Amino acid sequence: MVNATTMNLSNKKNAYGFVSKFFHWIMAVMPIGAWLMGNFHGDVGSWKRTFIIAHYTLGIIVFILVGFRLVWRFKNITPKPVKKTNGSTLFPTVFLHFFTPSCF
Ligand code: HEM
Repeated sequence: MVNATTMNLSNKKNAYGFVSKFFHWIMAVMPIGAWLMGNFHGDVGSWKRTFIIAHYTLGIIVFILVGFRLVWRFKNITPKPVKKTNGSTLFPTVFLHFFTPSCF
């Protein structure tokens, strides 16, 4: 199990650190949340106002995080790419990173 003292915050030559992984996943989840709330706020009755406010909030936080993420990107080394990706991970990777954002 990883604990706070052994966890690598920064990237290493062969692996992304905790902060890069955090940015990666938070920026996968938040835009999807913003998209859902933007699209479906009309279908949630009395929750509409909450959905719209949450939508703006998520969208603005994502925008701010892009700035922090860029700073972190240029202050860190980029780990070497994995040599070979097998078919079972290649398809979801390409699909999720190129097709999903194009839906927004
Ligand atoms: C990750 C960021 C965001 C995503 C993925 C996103 C996505 C969406 C989607 C899918 C819709 C529905 C569009 C439609 O019905 O055709 C929408 C509507 C809207 N979004 Fe966003 N949005 C984001 C950020 C923002 C931000 C930062 C603001 C403003 C502060 C904003 C303001 C609005 C407004 C005003 C609407 C129309 C709401 C209505 O129908 O009354 N969005 N958004």
